[in-house]
Amino acid sequence: MGNRILINPSILNANFDDLEGEIERVAKVSDQLHLDIMDNKFVPNFTFHFKQALEIIAFSKLPVDAHLMVEDADVIAPKYAENGCESVTFHFEAANNVKQTISHIKSNGSKVGLAIKPGTKFAQVEEFIDELDLLLIMTVEPGFGGQSFMTDQMEKVSQARAFINEGKAFPLLQVDGGISESTIETAASAGANCFVAGSAVYKSSDPAETIVKLRSLASNSFRG
Ligand code: DX5
Ligand code: ZN
Repeated sequence: MGNRILINPSILNANFDDLEGEIERVAKVSDQLHLDIMDNKFVPNFTFHFKQALEIIAFSKLPVDAHLMVEDADVIAPKYAENGCESVTFHFEAANNVKQTISHIKSNGSKVGLAIKPGTKFAQVEEFIDELDLLLIMTVEPGFGGQSFMTDQMEKVSQARAFINEGKAFPLLQVDGGISESTIETAASAGANCFVAGSAVYKSSDPAETIVKLRSLASNSFRG
């Protein structure tokens, strides 16, 4: 996907009584649907059972970018990959065998992403970069929408961007947490090119228009 800008709305703060409608509202102007899966173990919050997630994947008008915040990532991630997600991202901190899980996701037909929490250093995942389609640098502690963007993670984003640009593979560099019209330029100028936005989109009066604005701000300030 190179250095294309992607804007992926997260439905964590959307109206759960009409998720199909909520996805439809943003489908034309978004790249992927960011689906947050939380198990109340890896993070202190729960979102969807597997069966509910499958229903969302089936009715989503957008390809799904699943973000698994679950403890047993090695077992769960391949199940999402074989059930129609365009990409499946699991947490480095939740995997026992990162290399094997990367390869299981790929062999089950999805693109693969690896996520790191704010306390995890980029150096801990450097060795996997060439095998990834996406690296997710969390810009909040995972678990809840509506938190403040952590500017101190930008050093890690710049480090990852420099490393990616020197390598052979060009995974997307995704940021997730607190992305809004006032923070997206900071993340884009540090080198992120894939942006997850939850409350900024769904708490705005016009979600689609907000996505268009976010894309334009990111495109104008991206430094790859
Ligand atoms: C947080 C989730 C995010 C969340 C982002 O753990 O991974 O995807 O929905 O929400 P905002 O954009 O409100 O921070
Ligand atoms: Zn997420």
